[in-house]
Amino acid sequence: MDDGNDAGLDTYQPVDERLSPPKSFVEQANVADGAIYADFDENWPDAWERAADLLDWDEDYDQVLTERDGGYRWFDGGQLNACVNCVDRHLPERKNQRALVWEGQLGERRSYTYLELYREVNEFAAALRGLGVGEGDLVTMYMPMIPELPIAMLACARIGAPHNVVFAGFSADALGTRMDAADSEYLITCDGYYRRGDAVTLKNKADTASASVDAPVTTVLVDRLDGYDPTLGAREHSYSSLLADHGTERVSPVERAATDDLFRIYTSGTTGEPKAVTHTTGGYLSYTAWTSHAVLDIKPEDTYWCSADIGWITGHSYIVYGPLALGTTTVLYEGAPDHPEKNRLWEIVERQAVDVFYTAPTAIRAFMKWGSEYPDKHDLSSLRLLGTVGEPINPRAWKWYYEHIGNESCPIVDTWWQTETGGIMVSTLPAVRDMKPGAAGPPLPGISARVVDGNGSEVDAGEGGYLVVDQQWPGMPQELCEGDAWAATASENAPSPAGVEWAYLTEDGALMDDDGYITILGRVDDVINVSGHRFGTMELESAIVDIDGIAEAAVVTGTDDAHGKALYAYVSSEDDRENTEELRQAVIDAVEETVGPIARPKAVVFTPDLPKTQSGKIMRRLLEDIANDEELGDLSALRNPEVVGEIESAVRSD
Ligand code: WTA
Repeated sequence: MDDGNDAGLDTYQPVDERLSPPKSFVEQANVADGAIYADFDENWPDAWERAADLLDWDEDYDQVLTERDGGYRWFDGGQLNACVNCVDRHLPERKNQRALVWEGQLGERRSYTYLELYREVNEFAAALRGLGVGEGDLVTMYMPMIPELPIAMLACARIGAPHNVVFAGFSADALGTRMDAADSEYLITCDGYYRRGDAVTLKNKADTASASVDAPVTTVLVDRLDGYDPTLGAREHSYSSLLADHGTERVSPVERAATDDLFRIYTSGTTGEPKAVTHTTGGYLSYTAWTSHAVLDIKPEDTYWCSADIGWITGHSYIVYGPLALGTTTVLYEGAPDHPEKNRLWEIVERQAVDVFYTAPTAIRAFMKWGSEYPDKHDLSSLRLLGTVGEPINPRAWKWYYEHIGNESCPIVDTWWQTETGGIMVSTLPAVRDMKPGAAGPPLPGISARVVDGNGSEVDAGEGGYLVVDQQWPGMPQELCEGDAWAATASENAPSPAGVEWAYLTEDGALMDDDGYITILGRVDDVINVSGHRFGTMELESAIVDIDGIAEAAVVTGTDDAHGKALYAYVSSEDDRENTEELRQAVIDAVEETVGPIARPKAVVFTPDLPKTQSGKIMRRLLEDIANDEELGDLSALRNPEVVGEIESAVRSD
């Protein structure tokens, strides 16, 4: 903590304001009795039965939580199928209710009732079987926001083949690395998609990735683009022809153990390699169903919309699995929020009469910047609850959301969680606890979290520290269940809390107030958050230093008016090259090739040297302060304080 890399843990003070949920909301809420907190405390872990009870089990579990050989199993002995829980079991009551509603970027609309979803999922499951996909085979998906993506996920779940969804905005390199890491020989992709009215091709990137992986890849291609009919190679199959070949087929769902993998997702960690996170069938599905019920207050008769992309964990948990497990209508939107006009989302909320809307602070800040005239044009009175996720929301953006979207009559849930946690961990229960703008809320019932200092001791209320989760939860991933090193072992940034037997180190800085509400301060490791998307600095920096002529690189985030946060790449060139224009472009290209355009740096700043501590560590905190135009404080820990002035003037002149 003395090398200047702590995340400014003690500098943030949340506002002291609280708002109560409206009575009309409380009266209809799924969870309205505050006794639930005590019940979980007194009956932990058995109180988690209520999450498992939201699902249909083929075989009952023996025990809620089993500790075995240093590992943890949730609902051990239980058998179930995730596709049955999200589709089949809703047919008797809701076969004609819409399950998926899709709004395309060109204004197209399509929906699937539960019966239609059931049919297509079965046909595609039969097709996957026909291609040789067996139980336990990992199937990669590289697809935009079209209904075929959740359909493919559910088809995989039906036959017990874990999926591995890779965000469609990622580069061919990023896809290839993830397919190799997962040993995945199947790829479901798409010819392309539309973004702001333009066609974006995907197949070329999928082809490059497939050619780069070790094993021969069998590909299924969905046809989304008009007038583009690529010729299919020997191992390539068209989605629509496969469906035609397997029309009317039904596939018996494969019974999976609660502890079997449901899917893998790669996220960013502190190394240059993507970090594999594998979620379980029984634990994860119970947890997403429960949090959708208790926090997002989803009811089967609702129309629910989470505007995330399914390529990230938020889309897995709260567009697909949680809402469909509860039998609701879930909305999928393909495109940009400002195309063709900046009222696009509010037009959809009005047309679809959305009840619950869940988005990210970065989007809210953009809405705020565009102005309230866009939401004001629309009748948003169908909304009952609003949610946010992905990064801290500042009180001003929170208030704007509350007033202009929620008309001061919808509670807001500020939900903290991570790819690793599978589902929401920290948030108010909207009918039970008051809201405090800027603070996410207390840990959910049954979740235990604390804020500790660098030695692992709990800090006082209101003081910054490291957020750790010190009790298991059903959504914990396979890697953690199996006793992986993410838990308990002290890391340089967040040691294991004193006197705590087991803890998951979240790598987030936080503070807890007197009421137990947690305010998240941001990552304390080498993971950065740009517009709610997570990147590893190592992954980006190694791509940059691979460029001929670049000696060193450090990537940090800095303030950006439009997006809240943007990437700044600080680089030093070999031999102090004078003409850096070419190198600047090379840096941008390298980042786009390795990750994708979403990680494109806002600024590439050349410096003769990066600021380093006496022990030779790059002082990121200082680079971040420069990018944020903040006062720089004490520079005495620096080995080369003379570079600071040069870096500052380079940033200002950029
Ligand atoms: C950040 C996204 C503040 C946090 C679900 C975390 C948040 C990282 C919040 C995980 C929130 C998520 N307030 N920060 N409500 N929610 N974060 O894995 O830094 O893509 O560690 O999961 O996002 O990002 P991930």
